[in-house]
Amino acid sequence: MTPSRRTFIKTLSTATALAATGGIQAVLGNTPLVGAPAYIPNLVGNSPNDKIRIATIGMGIQGNYDTMAALRSPDVELVAVSDLYDGRLEHAKTAFGKDKELFATRDFREILTRPDVDAVLVVVPDHWHDHITIEALKAGKHVYCEKPMVQHINEGKPVIDAWKKSGKTMQVGSQRISSSSFQEAKRMVQAGDIGQINYIESNNDRFNAIGAWNYSVPPDASLTTLDWDRFLGDAPKRPFDAKRFFRWRNYKDYGTGVAGDLFVHLITGVHFVTNSLGPTRIFSSGNLAYWKDGRDVPDVMTSVMDYPKTDNHEAFQMVLRVNFANAGKISNVTRIIGNEGQIEFSEDNLILTKKKLPVAPGYGGYDSYFTFTEPVKQQFKEQYDAQYPQETRTAEPVKEVRFDAPKNEDAHTAHFTDFFKNVRLGSQGTIEDPVFGFRAAAPVLACNESYFDQKVVEWDPVTMTKKGQPVAVAGGAKGKKKRA
Ligand SMILES: NC(=O)c1ccc[n+]([C@@H]2O[C@H](COP(=O)([O-])OP(=O)(O)OC[C@H]3O[C@@H](n4cnc5c(N)ncnc54)[C@H](O)[C@@H]3O)[C@@H](O)[C@H]2O)c1
Repeated sequence: MTPSRRTFIKTLSTATALAATGGIQAVLGNTPLVGAPAYIPNLVGNSPNDKIRIATIGMGIQGNYDTMAALRSPDVELVAVSDLYDGRLEHAKTAFGKDKELFATRDFREILTRPDVDAVLVVVPDHWHDHITIEALKAGKHVYCEKPMVQHINEGKPVIDAWKKSGKTMQVGSQRISSSSFQEAKRMVQAGDIGQINYIESNNDRFNAIGAWNYSVPPDASLTTLDWDRFLGDAPKRPFDAKRFFRWRNYKDYGTGVAGDLFVHLITGVHFVTNSLGPTRIFSSGNLAYWKDGRDVPDVMTSVMDYPKTDNHEAFQMVLRVNFANAGKISNVTRIIGNEGQIEFSEDNLILTKKKLPVAPGYGGYDSYFTFTEPVKQQFKEQYDAQYPQETRTAEPVKEVRFDAPKNEDAHTAHFTDFFKNVRLGSQGTIEDPVFGFRAAAPVLACNESYFDQKVVEWDPVTMTKKGQPVAVAGGAKGKKKRA
């Protein structure tokens, strides 16, 4: 992009953003954290060669996949990486730094002070998400942060606050919503193809050790080859344990259980498709049924959520389930059920089934009609015929519409493309900005709270506050971190 064209786009986006938000004062002032995000112009330019220069913080499994997906977008360059385990820094240099110098460090702060880094990918365990994201935004970096956006509910508003103040672009990483089947489902729901939604169910079952998070531990893991103290961060201090470092999802000090790891993808999809802000009541039950390997989170969990009626949808119930010990037939689907049909998603396709009841209820068969006396039957029939003319008696034929995602579709790259497009436009309007990200994360974190404390959690999806908590406003989230 030429400088003059970029200046033009920036000026345009600045003007548009200010018109939409009522001026910079309103954006940076006391805008409450309610409703749509403010689209604040990003006033800091990208690198002079017009490439967006990225650094990945956390070069583990997803750090590698995210980096590869990011680099599939045009004009994006990886300049630095951070990780706490030396083996992964070495691996990153080999995988991504073959033809150039790649800065590699254990200390993510060294990445944030580099002027040649425009954007960071935060791909670390969940307990580090909020810290690194906030520091990165304060340092003037755009942020792509993995899901769930935060580990605890009380960390959400400080992240949103930092994002609003920074004017930087931020994307949360539940990449499936950037696939065409989610976009198609959204189009169908908004077009009224399934009538009013009344129930949604979604599950993500597995039955294998790696699926249950028991990832391989490198045999050279030691206090020399990795930074254990930094890994612990604000989690309780404890002696070195390689299993905790490499299988952190199994421990609630660092991860967010099946809810934060997997429900979050399901709920993100549902909020995207239905334009919902979130549930008001959340209840979970579950058990550690099979993987009794020292983990302190359940491997079977079902959560029920009540979604209230809004301008966008009727009230509905949602049931989410993960079973890591399902030795039966696994069929992982999301079903959105309405009073005129349902949408069922699986990996790469979507099936819409339309079914509309006739106005006339019918009678006979397994019904009380046969128990009536003959004269009453006759009387009933006369009344029925008068009330329901012929045209009200036939149901619309059941119709099935199948949508297959394009063969080589890559939702992961598309999610990054949306992020980089917004970085270039100087816009904060990503598909999964932190307000959206928190509205998905908070209810799933509440699922954990419900499970561990054995209670119903009440949540206000508009103000993004738990019942009994004060409603914070932008700029007002201060003070020390407290676990919730
Ligand atoms: N969007 C998706 O589909 C998806 C899929 C998998 C994982 N994730 C998310 O990605 C994140 C990482 O998961 P993973 O499976 O790659 O974990 P991982 O354990 O494989 O990798 C995490 C890496 O972060 C490093 N790390 C930890 N603390 C750090 C710090 N303070 N500074 C720098 N590096 C640090 C560790 O050394 C480790 O190599 C998690 O939040 C997870 O929920 C998302």
